[in-house]
Amino acid sequence: MNKALVGAALLFLGVSAHAADIAASAKLYQTYCASCHGVELQGAEGPSLTDAKWIHGEPTKANLVKIISKGVPDKGMPAWAGVLTKEQIAQVADYVSPKSAAARKAAKPAAAANPLAGLKLPKGFSISIYADKVESAREMAVSPSGIVYVGSRKPGKVYALIDENKDGVVDRIVTVAEGLDKPNGVALLNGDLYVGEISRIIKFADIDRTYASKPSYKVIKDDLPKEGWHGEKYIKAGPDGKLYVPIGAPCNVCNKEDEAYSKIWRMNPDGSNWELVARGVRNTVGFNWHPETKELWFTDNGRDEMGDNTPSCELNVAPKLGMHFGFPYCHGGVVPDPDFAKGRTCEEFTPPVAKLGPHVAPLGMAFYTGTAFPQAYRNQLFVAEHGSWNRANKIGYQVRLITLYGNQVVSDTAFIDGFLQGEEVSGRPVDIAVLADGSMLVSDDHANRIYRITYKP
Ligand code: HEC
Repeated sequence: MNKALVGAALLFLGVSAHAADIAASAKLYQTYCASCHGVELQGAEGPSLTDAKWIHGEPTKANLVKIISKGVPDKGMPAWAGVLTKEQIAQVADYVSPKSAAARKAAKPAAAANPLAGLKLPKGFSISIYADKVESAREMAVSPSGIVYVGSRKPGKVYALIDENKDGVVDRIVTVAEGLDKPNGVALLNGDLYVGEISRIIKFADIDRTYASKPSYKVIKDDLPKEGWHGEKYIKAGPDGKLYVPIGAPCNVCNKEDEAYSKIWRMNPDGSNWELVARGVRNTVGFNWHPETKELWFTDNGRDEMGDNTPSCELNVAPKLGMHFGFPYCHGGVVPDPDFAKGRTCEEFTPPVAKLGPHVAPLGMAFYTGTAFPQAYRNQLFVAEHGSWNRANKIGYQVRLITLYGNQVVSDTAFIDGFLQGEEVSGRPVDIAVLADGSMLVSDDHANRIYRITYKP
């Protein structure tokens, strides 16, 4: 082998070894640091690590290792010694060093380059970003003119998403209202937008005409419980012209049967005629009516602290008023509660039509009523799984397709998968809506965006 060839071989080895290093340290950075310093080090809660300003002196290796190890706890930078090994700290120090700028650029993490790269859908379907930077995107309501209203939690805002030229990408995000108390729920009825806060339902009249001018609202109901635990509302107008409002159990598990909790209620649009729809419901954050039977279907989140594998979250049907779905006595149709079951049996209660799995956190759901997907999808059910928060190995974090024959579940398969890679999470689906053109929207309060799913044979 001549000298040049040896040199080329060494260079090649050197480069690929370095690329592997960068990939590994990029992964560490994305896992532990990106939430505060940004996916591309551009800064967020923490300072930018790419600008020329260094609060803590020249970014030498020794200096970086020191600050990363010790942190600046009173300024919000955690100490990483003890969390990461010495080698890992050296790796992230190299990664954030200005010297690695070129290597970082060359090895751009797939997730940063294309946040949808890891997502998998059945053949013929594609997913794109409908709207980005929709902070804490939760329930969605689509108006007849195609405006998508979106509720949120922490930011206290309600947004209107406007796709001006109807190209499937939102052009303007308008903040309709702010300063609200976790306005998770949004529903349209007779041209008015109803918003569900923790303890109130408010109404913005004639919303499509007023959304852009900071419309005022009228309080329709203000005597709902003030508890934050499971207090976030998912609301929707039923085919009966009434507004459905659930009140979750203010606990992991507790018996509040004689109070308003752990039930689904409904009322007239003016707040009158408050009546019971279903009881024994721990916390539903998603429901809809079957397009043909007009029966109410809803998801319910199973209790915690009975282990990683039990009980299952539920998919339920309530064909009539007043049915009892088991909480707090019986979970998932088959698991008696260790503390509350006393003398009650699971047979007393309406079992779920499907057990969706433990801790998967099923939230919004929609029947596919469009015509753009293949015929087999017509009137089938899509469920958004927000994903587990306290399970040893994460589960959920996907959109599932549940096919039905009458009220019987025939199959339950992944429709959008890949938000969870190993234990890393890139998205948490919250709600599902179908646009007039037959495409489907999915909100995500982790990635703060709305996806659009289309089909091409
Ligand atoms: C919870 C948020 C948070 C996380 C997570 C975090 N940082 Fe920080 N970091 C900060 C804040 C805030 C500062 C600024 C501290 C100050 O003002 O002194 C900072 C400062 C720094 C600095 C010094 C910047 C300068 O200008 O001197 C470095 C380097 C750094 N962080 C690297 C990291 C690395 C590497 C990780 C992951 C292992 C990480 N940080 C994770 C919040 C965070």
